Amino acid sequence: MQISSFKSAHTLITGQGCSSTLSEHLDSLNINYPLIVTDKGVRNSGTLDLITAQLASRKYSIFDDVAAEPDNNVVEHCFAVYNAQPHDAIISVGGGSAIDIAKCVAVLAGNNQTLSAMFGENNVVKRGIPHIAIPTTAGTGSEVTNIAILSVPSEQTKKGVVSDFLLPDLAIVAPEMTLSCPQHITAASGVDALVHAIEAYLSHFSSPITDALAIKAMGMIINHLPTAYRSPQDIDARENMATASLMAGLAFGNAGVGAVHALAYPLGGRYHISHGVSNALLLPYVMEWNKSECLTRFTHIATALSTPVTPHDDAETMANKVIQQLHDLCEEVGIPRGMRTLGIKKEDIPELAKEAIKVERLLKNNPRKLSLSDIENIYYAAY
Ligand SMILES: NC(=O)c1ccc[n+]([C@@H]2O[C@H](COP(=O)([O-])OP(=O)(O)OC[C@H]3O[C@@H](n4cnc5c(N)ncnc54)[C@H](O)[C@@H]3O)[C@@H](O)[C@H]2O)c1
Ligand SMILES: [Fe+2]
Repeated sequence: MQISSFKSAHTLITGQGCSSTLSEHLDSLNINYPLIVTDKGVRNSGTLDLITAQLASRKYSIFDDVAAEPDNNVVEHCFAVYNAQPHDAIISVGGGSAIDIAKCVAVLAGNNQTLSAMFGENNVVKRGIPHIAIPTTAGTGSEVTNIAILSVPSEQTKKGVVSDFLLPDLAIVAPEMTLSCPQHITAASGVDALVHAIEAYLSHFSSPITDALAIKAMGMIINHLPTAYRSPQDIDARENMATASLMAGLAFGNAGVGAVHALAYPLGGRYHISHGVSNALLLPYVMEWNKSECLTRFTHIATALSTPVTPHDDAETMANKVIQQLHDLCEEVGIPRGMRTLGIKKEDIPELAKEAIKVERLLKNNPRKLSLSDIENIYYAAY
């Protein structure tokens, strides 16, 4: 077993109704004037009211200009709003986009660094101001990871700021915050969580701790994502998905994700396809590539996903059935199939592959090594 450390947000609060505990945490964290970082979709859905209702007797401001798949300009804009008043903390209320913006602003507020100096691994000098993350999707797991992902329009890809100083002080993972999540976002972010669990389980850097979280999360997602998709008000399904997304976040936040995410980045950067959909498009095809290197682990995944295997199936047959199940799940939750259906040009594939192979930070975690032509072939298969 290799030596590993385990990172998380400092405190995790879960369970139905837990969003109502925010005000007591503001007191314990000594927060007097927070800036809420959110987006218009979350604000207009009424879900933000669950948070602001608790702040009626306090000073606070709201920044709701986070865009989906946000870029560095959104961070700069939000930081300017933060600086315009004597704010002393950030509360992010949203999906991965709002949480990632909040993570960057929290460290910018506590450091004398520019955002561009923070890109890459371990370039943030010190911890920033307090940050409470309240996810509204299930989800990215961003509330417990040490990374913020931003689009970089000039390079047509996405880049990460990776630093333990990004880890929030508190994550409040409340299923009621996800009840208003639109169906297609429930689907895409739910599959993203499943990819986190699977890639963490297959990562070179998995540990018994991340394995346990990943396997449990896979079972919860396969059992509850279709219900959360079909019946958005089903609080039990929402709770299972919220907790599973958190667990998958803890798994990949420590074990890493792999080639699915590396190949998905250029789809988000160049075509603005959402993170969850980009991952979903590639998931079965990357798993087809990976399987020969980790057949035994695929049999564990088959158990976690209750894949319909028979006692006569060998490991390869089980892996093939897992891959078919991943196709079926994406179809069941209405995710478009095939890169061609999303307007991606086939002749762009060599360029996409050149971008993807640069994501060495993630490719190094992947169980099977990929060359440039291997990546191109996966894109062609997923086309
Ligand atoms: N930092 C990390 O560890 C990490 C991990 C995975 C993904 N990400 C990033 O997260 C982003 C994707 O996040 P996401 O999938 O959570 O979606 P998102 O934050 O981009 O939100 C997508 C849309 O859903 C709406 N929405 C979200 N929750 C809602 C709710 N409860 N009610 C009504 N509307 C709601 C938003 O308004 C928005 O329009 C990408 O930028 C991706 O790169 C980060
Ligand atoms: Fe992801």
